[in-house]
Amino acid sequence: MVCLITGSSRGLGRAIALAFGNRGEQVAVHYKNKSSEAEEVASQIKDSLILKADVRDFNRVKTLVERVINKWGRIDVLINNAGITKEALLIKTTEKDFDDMVNTNLKGPFNFIRTVGRHMMKQKSGHIINVASFAGVKGKEGLSAYSASKAGLIGLTKTAAKELSRYNIMVNAVLPGYMLTDMGTEANERAKERALRESLVKKFSEPDKVAEFICYLSETTGITGQVFNLDSRIL
Ligand SMILES: NC(=O)c1ccc[n+]([C@@H]2O[C@H](COP(=O)([O-])OP(=O)(O)OC[C@H]3O[C@@H](n4cnc5c(N)ncnc54)[C@H](OP(=O)(O)O)[C@@H]3O)[C@@H](O)[C@H]2O)c1
Repeated sequence: MVCLITGSSRGLGRAIALAFGNRGEQVAVHYKNKSSEAEEVASQIKDSLILKADVRDFNRVKTLVERVINKWGRIDVLINNAGITKEALLIKTTEKDFDDMVNTNLKGPFNFIRTVGRHMMKQKSGHIINVASFAGVKGKEGLSAYSASKAGLIGLTKTAAKELSRYNIMVNAVLPGYMLTDMGTEANERAKERALRESLVKKFSEPDKVAEFICYLSETTGITGQVFNLDSRIL
């Protein structure tokens, strides 16, 4: 299978790229800034391609997808994982920060689904998995732009599932849970404490475990339009 994982230089995306790589799949490793991290991930995968693009830029995404098609001729799995967050109360959130989060976390996946979707339609098969967030379902103080972008991503997931199921393309979202990646570690202590307090098993999520679930989901048939919560916080 040819797998394209956005934001796979670090964190959850890295774990997903390595999980697919360990299964012997062909993996397109994508990043924005951290080229040496992306190279390190790709070096551990037998058949890989390294791609740089800002997910906010439709034309760059289009060129990136063409490179994957030129190399392997198809895309079987698209994981929309790249994302950013920045904490601030709603009334203190700047227009720039709001636009950055919505453009990265929501428009980015739109850019990829619109571009990769055409190839999957021709193939009459494909899996698209969008990495959303608990915050997108429940809302979270201090994360209005992030929560809004992830809520939008869930709406995008369900609509894409409805439009693409006739082409045998499955589109789902996962809520990975709080992970101690760069994103999770850089958040303030209150956010970590809150996640643990809400967790019934008092644990953070592990990127490797989330990646295993995503690999499993990408091999299923007949599951689409769903949102999977992968921790013990109750929705
Ligand atoms: N960590 C958590 O607790 C948590 C919880 C719920 C949901 N999530 C979601 O899980 C996903 C992965 O998060 P993470 O914790 O692994 O984050 P991370 O460690 O901060 O990694 C973010 C990744 O996204 C890439 N990226 C960011 N902005 C980009 C852009 N404009 N264009 C292209 N790539 C871009 C980064 O590329 P560079 O390395 O090149 O900068 C990096 O590979 C995100 O969608 C996040 O919202 C995370």
